[in-house]
Amino acid sequence: MTLHYYYAACTLGLEAVLADELRALGAGDVEARRGACAFTGDRAMGYKACLWTRSAIRVQEELTRGFVRDRDDLYALTGTVDWSQSITYLQTLAIDGSVKDSFANDTRFPVLVVKDAICDQFRDRTGKRPDVGKDRPDLPIKLVLQGQEAILYRELGGEPLHKRGYREILHKSPLNEATAAGLLLMTGWDKQSPVCDPMCGSATFLIEAAWLACDRAPGLGRAFAFERWRDTDLDAWRQVYDEAEARAQRGAGRTPRLCGNDRHPSAIAIAQKALAGAGLENAVQLSQEDTFNWQPPFVPRLVVTNPPYGDRLQAEPQSLNDSWDALGRFLHRQCPGASAFVLCGNPELTQLLGLRATQKYPVRNGPIECRWLRYDIDGR
Ligand SMILES: C[S@@+](CC[C@H](N)C(=O)[O-])C[C@H]1O[C@@H](n2cnc3c(N)ncnc32)[C@H](O)[C@@H]1O
Repeated sequence: MTLHYYYAACTLGLEAVLADELRALGAGDVEARRGACAFTGDRAMGYKACLWTRSAIRVQEELTRGFVRDRDDLYALTGTVDWSQSITYLQTLAIDGSVKDSFANDTRFPVLVVKDAICDQFRDRTGKRPDVGKDRPDLPIKLVLQGQEAILYRELGGEPLHKRGYREILHKSPLNEATAAGLLLMTGWDKQSPVCDPMCGSATFLIEAAWLACDRAPGLGRAFAFERWRDTDLDAWRQVYDEAEARAQRGAGRTPRLCGNDRHPSAIAIAQKALAGAGLENAVQLSQEDTFNWQPPFVPRLVVTNPPYGDRLQAEPQSLNDSWDALGRFLHRQCPGASAFVLCGNPELTQLLGLRATQKYPVRNGPIECRWLRYDIDGR
């Protein structure tokens, strides 16, 4: 078996969750890094990582690495890869780069060098070259230049993996699906106990919870760039995919009790659309009330929620205070004996809950440093 070197990126703070997911899938040499995990495996392992990891945002396969002091070194290194194994000249590629302490000040020049080296290789062999396509390129390439080391990856997913395909309309302040799934996995939820999100927005937590409980692979409804590559092992991919489909069929309907609430009618409308897109029309009970007054249809064992904390929603301070006060009262009154996990990017607001966090996990939500806070609510 040829061993491939992979690199999966995730939200900062979810590295340990992703590492556990990868190990459970059979990945080798799993090593958590900052915002990522490195791992090894055969081709099928790469496909499984794309299809099954809930917390990964990208999966990349390393194609080559080497020392580069200047343009010529980078050009030569790029030429050591046989690019025709991935695509034909009729397909498209795109190159994204990151640069730190290297011969180039920014990514523009080295990205151009890599593009020229690839296109020249095609032209030398066939007289034709692939085009660069920003929109859904067949071969998304990532160049990492750090000091005198360059690494070239190809990205297996294409579109980021958090794009599961169930969400057409975006809520004003949605939680990234992969982040939501990773946070849910961090709670240690048993996939059976009742769950609620009292400020559910577009219901990301609830959809991810339902898919987790139903054993549905998060990537089942979407396409991946690797499906368009020439050296993809289609038999291995078919096997991985068929197994995921069979598991989803066996697990369908295994949803535990799930409920969500939001005071905004537009949020509920978006949540309903997303639930339908995820094949979960009847799996989640939704209500539209102020959390302050909301009585969920059952007592939850787990509460997961992402209240506003004054970033993208740009709420007035008083309205923020009211939301957190309402959440605190809801937890005290309606959730005896539950574990509540709350994502917060503003520590001052958490005081309004009137509860003491028993665990605090640092997590990055977009540009904001947040905490995933656990509260154990007293039983009656
Ligand atoms: C950051 S968004 C949640 C986003 C959600 N996690 C998602 O993925 O779409 C916060 C949500 O809390 C809701 N909210 C704020 N205060 C509320 C309250 N007092 N009662 C009910 N909903 C409230 C807002 O309407 C908003 O949809």
